[in-house]
Amino acid sequence: MQHHTLSCCGGVRASLPPPPLSFRWSKIKREGGRRLPRCARIAAQLELKPPPYSLSSLEPHMSRETLEYHWGRHHRAHVASLNNLIAGTDLDGMGLDEIVVVSYNKGNPLPLFVHAAQVWNHDFFWQSIKPGGGGRPSGRLMEHIERDFGSFDRMLEEFKRAALTQFGSGWAWLVYKANRLDVGNAVNPCPSEKDNKLVVLKSPNAVNPIVWDYSPLLAIDVWEHAYYLDYENRRADYVSIFLEKLVSWEVVSDRLDVAIERAAERAREDETRRQEDDAAVTHSEAVEMYLDSDTDDSEAE
Ligand SMILES: [Fe+2]
Repeated sequence: MQHHTLSCCGGVRASLPPPPLSFRWSKIKREGGRRLPRCARIAAQLELKPPPYSLSSLEPHMSRETLEYHWGRHHRAHVASLNNLIAGTDLDGMGLDEIVVVSYNKGNPLPLFVHAAQVWNHDFFWQSIKPGGGGRPSGRLMEHIERDFGSFDRMLEEFKRAALTQFGSGWAWLVYKANRLDVGNAVNPCPSEKDNKLVVLKSPNAVNPIVWDYSPLLAIDVWEHAYYLDYENRRADYVSIFLEKLVSWEVVSDRLDVAIERAAERAREDETRRQEDDAAVTHSEAVEMYLDSDTDDSEAE
């Protein structure tokens, strides 16, 4: 991969490949992000977010020792590495979502992608579980699960299969896939007939579905460090306990509401843009007709 030197405010700070030219800043604006002028960016260290519960409160299903090791060492190391790699570059000051998508670089990841995505993934993972979790979802989430998988049990089967067949390290996901793929030439892992549906995916290493413009709802970490201390190599036991005793379906449900609203807002924006394009074409055609008729009149004289 060819590397270019990036600079900020005239200072050469790091050597990184360029961000993708096709990255859409309008998308960032739609999602509430900000693009600051390069020299106005303020270097901001990303923080290690603690899980929203005490480290021992997931026991006996996930031990304090696992959280001390997984959150306290692995997650922390990714935050530190990411902060070191973005310091002084154009990525410094961006939101984490933006850094993940930019550094994925349409399937040719920058070296810091693994750290950015793993920080995002682990933040999301800790928030996906809770003491006394598990059970069954209800309301809109359950309706969508039954619509898109046939039943809750069928969705669980598919999720388990994804988690167990992810060879080596990686993640399994339940996502809401809206009706577009808005990340340049990235390969869309699901066919178009699955638009506006819940989909189960698996991804290798640190890859995160936001790089395909999907909305993640639930994730399970199937890197061995996530379960070895409690389950040794019994990944199937870990996945079952995760679903039966730890998942916060309330959080998943809230994420689905946000994803559906986001997709609806994008659909409205698309419709507005289409109407504006149609109006511009109609105006252009009217001008051409006027000029043509003007030319005809001149020739007649
Ligand atoms: Fe992990």
